[in-house]
Amino acid sequence: MRSESLGISTESSGSIVFQWEDMVEDSRLLEIRNLVTRFYTEEGVVRAVDGNSLHLDAGETLGIVGESGSGKTVTALSIMGLIENPGLIESGSILFRGDELLEKTQQEMLEIRGKEIAMVFQDPMNSLNPTLTVGDQIARVLHFHTSLSRREKKRRAIELLRQVEMPEPEKRLGNYPHQLSGGMRQRVLIAMAISCNPTVVILDEPTTALDVTIEAQIFELVDKLKAQFDMGIILITHDLAVVANSCDRVIVMYAGRIVEEAPVIDLYENPLHPYTRGLLNSIPQLDKEKQERLPSIPGEVPELITLPEGCNFSPRCKYAVEKCMHDDPPIIKIAPGRRLACWKAGEFIE
Ligand SMILES: Nc1ncnc2c1ncn2[C@@H]1O[C@H](COP(=O)(O)OP(=O)(O)OP(=O)(O)O)[C@@H](O)[C@H]1O
Ligand SMILES: [Mg+2]
Repeated sequence: MRSESLGISTESSGSIVFQWEDMVEDSRLLEIRNLVTRFYTEEGVVRAVDGNSLHLDAGETLGIVGESGSGKTVTALSIMGLIENPGLIESGSILFRGDELLEKTQQEMLEIRGKEIAMVFQDPMNSLNPTLTVGDQIARVLHFHTSLSRREKKRRAIELLRQVEMPEPEKRLGNYPHQLSGGMRQRVLIAMAISCNPTVVILDEPTTALDVTIEAQIFELVDKLKAQFDMGIILITHDLAVVANSCDRVIVMYAGRIVEEAPVIDLYENPLHPYTRGLLNSIPQLDKEKQERLPSIPGEVPELITLPEGCNFSPRCKYAVEKCMHDDPPIIKIAPGRRLACWKAGEFIE
């Protein structure tokens, strides 16, 4: 059961205390609260994820969208327990089915990764080992997380390739990555990700290198698998057309912060944050173009080392007023399932 609060709940990495008023449902897979992940580089401290909260339920696809460098991948790597030196998760909480991941040992995280939470990484070519056949790569994952015999692993690998609709699965087992097309490689990565029946799958820009037809097939497949196994999916993408077609709910990130969250239909019909509006306004035909990058909004994303005072987006925002230049807007719940971080929000709500 979920109890939506009637009042406004606020959260931020600053002085306003996070108040979580929703009861956690059984279907809640992930619950991230006030996550802060930083990188301590020679140039300075990179505020890659700056006090964000989000959740994921079983059977839904959550889209995370935002320009390059907005902290999408770092959010995913934080969930996976893969933030390495000079990075540090400084504070916050990542609950997986109510269990705190940030308190897990490395060994415990090794067991959770792949088995409970799996990720398809941003760079498909680097994610596959060029010296191993498809069958051996899948078998490795199965070997780590299961006690299947050699023969059972082979049978399971074929079954997985069939599930991801790989043509001629028996034959593909003996192929090396370079013998496969981009779409086939992506299917292998998805097969590896679902091999141990995880409940959460994170896909980080899974189709950037693929053409539109293959991309559509991959997302159809992801949808089918999600329904079949009741997984929760986090889909990170630059591509707003992909979000429109594949996601139930969307989070928009800007310079390390979540600036807006909405059910997908609401986001497209009534985007509220000026940044989201800018992104959507500049796509002429959502369903006709494949976008490699987000449409451009005048100005540049700030360096995460030297963020502007006030709202991070204020230097590029045509609606910005004096307050926006000095005070950081907290993210506020404005309706069930909708959150927004903007001082001018009230003026946009219809
Ligand atoms: N290992 C690292 N060391 C230092 N800074 C890092 C490291 N990894 C990421 N960052 C910084 O963290 C910020 C967020 O990066 P992230 O990779 O999450 O962006 P992204 O939204 O996934 O971008 P893209 O769309 O290009 O993949 C960037 O400023 C990036 O330079
Ligand atoms: Mg990324």
